[in-house]
Amino acid sequence: MSLSRRALMGGLGSGTSLSSAFVCARGREALVAEHLAEADEPLVVPPVAADEIRISSNENPLGPGPKALEALRGAFELGNRYPTNTSPSMADLRAILAESTGAQPANVVLGAGSGEILKNGVHAFTSPSRYLLTATPTYGQPARVARYLGAEVREVPIDSDGRLDLDAMAEAAQGAGLVFVCNPNNPTSTVHSGDAIAAFVAEVHRRSPDTAIHIDEAYHEYVTDPAYRSAVELALDTPNLFVSRTFSKAYGMAGMRIGYGVGHQDTIAKLRRYALTFNTNSLGQIAAHAAVQDPGFVSSERARNSEVKKMTVEFFERAGYGVMNSQTNFIFVDIRRPAAGFRDACREHGVRVGRDFPPLEKTHCRISIGTMAEMERATEVFGQVLEV
Ligand SMILES: Cc1ncc(COP(=O)(O)O)c(C=O)c1O
Repeated sequence: MSLSRRALMGGLGSGTSLSSAFVCARGREALVAEHLAEADEPLVVPPVAADEIRISSNENPLGPGPKALEALRGAFELGNRYPTNTSPSMADLRAILAESTGAQPANVVLGAGSGEILKNGVHAFTSPSRYLLTATPTYGQPARVARYLGAEVREVPIDSDGRLDLDAMAEAAQGAGLVFVCNPNNPTSTVHSGDAIAAFVAEVHRRSPDTAIHIDEAYHEYVTDPAYRSAVELALDTPNLFVSRTFSKAYGMAGMRIGYGVGHQDTIAKLRRYALTFNTNSLGQIAAHAAVQDPGFVSSERARNSEVKKMTVEFFERAGYGVMNSQTNFIFVDIRRPAAGFRDACREHGVRVGRDFPPLEKTHCRISIGTMAEMERATEVFGQVLEV
C-alpha cells in the first residue's frame, strides 16, 4: 500500500490521541497542566503543526512545562532589562541550580545552552600543544571548536555496543588538554554507570593529572538505567572535572538557550573567563528558574518518552532491525543501509529523521522520539520505506 503524505497527515488525531485542532484550541500548556494535575500516565499529544513530523534534533516534542510557561508569560515586560537586573536574575538562576545540584553558586557557570559550556571548555583547556580527546561518533561540537582553534583532535572509536570505549580513552588521554565524555552519548544513546565514570576519571587523572575532563550530561533527565549516576557530585570535589547540563532536552526549552556547567570552583572560574557577560536571555532564564522548581514535569516527560520509545523500539525489533540500548530521547537504529537514502525517503512522506553520523552513516540512523501519535505515523512510514 502506498502511504501518501495526505493519508499520513489525515491520520493524525485518530485513535486514542487528541486532535491537533483540539490542542490548538485549548492551548498546549493548559492541556499539559491539566494532564499533570490528574494523571500519572504519560501524555499523548499530536503535533500542533501537522506539516512535518520532526524527529531529527532530539527535542522534547511537547515544549516547556506549565510552570515554565507561566513564568515566561510574566517575563515579557522585563525584556528591557539585562539578565542581571531581572527578578529572578542570572545570580538567582545560578543559586537555584547550585541548590538543586548540592553545589555553591561559585561551582556553577551559565551558558547560552550547554553548547556554550562545550565551546568554552575547549577554549579553556586545549591549545595547539594540548589536544582534545573525544570519541567517534559522539557529539561533534568540541571537536569542531578544537580544530578551529588549531588544537589537535584525537578520536577513539566506540565499542561494538555503541558505548564509549572508556578503557581506550583513558589510555589515549595521557597529555590531552581536555577529554570529552558524552554520557549518555549522542548519537548512540548509550550510557555508562556512575561507577564506570568515577573509575575512568580516577584513571585519567592518575595517568595525566593536568588533563581536564568534561562529562556532557545533556540527556541526564531521560536516563532510566539504575546504574547511572550523574558526575556532578564527583566534579564538585575533583579539580579539572566539570559537567554540563541543559534545559534544551527534557525541559523542552531548546529555543531558549539555557545551559550550565558545574564543577570545582577553580575549574568553573576557568570556564567563566570565556563566557559572555550576558550569555543568558532574560526570558529563558526566568523560565528555567521556574522549571527547576517543577521536578514533576521532568519525571512525567521521562515516563512519556520511555513509553513512546518502547513502542518505537519494538517496531524496529519486530522488523528485524537492531536498536542500541537507548537511555535518551532518541534511538540509534541499524537500518543496514545508508542513512541518507532512508532519510530522503522518509522526508518524502513528511517525516524528518537525523542526519549522517560518520563513521556509521552507511548503516545507522538516529531517530528522535516524538509524541505517541507522531511515532505511530512515523513507524508506518518506516515500515513502508524499509519494506517490512
Ligand atoms: C550531547 C549534547 N550536548 C550538548 C548539546 C547542546 O545543546 P544545547 O546547546 O541546546 O544545550 C546537544 C544538542 O543536541 C547534545 O546532544
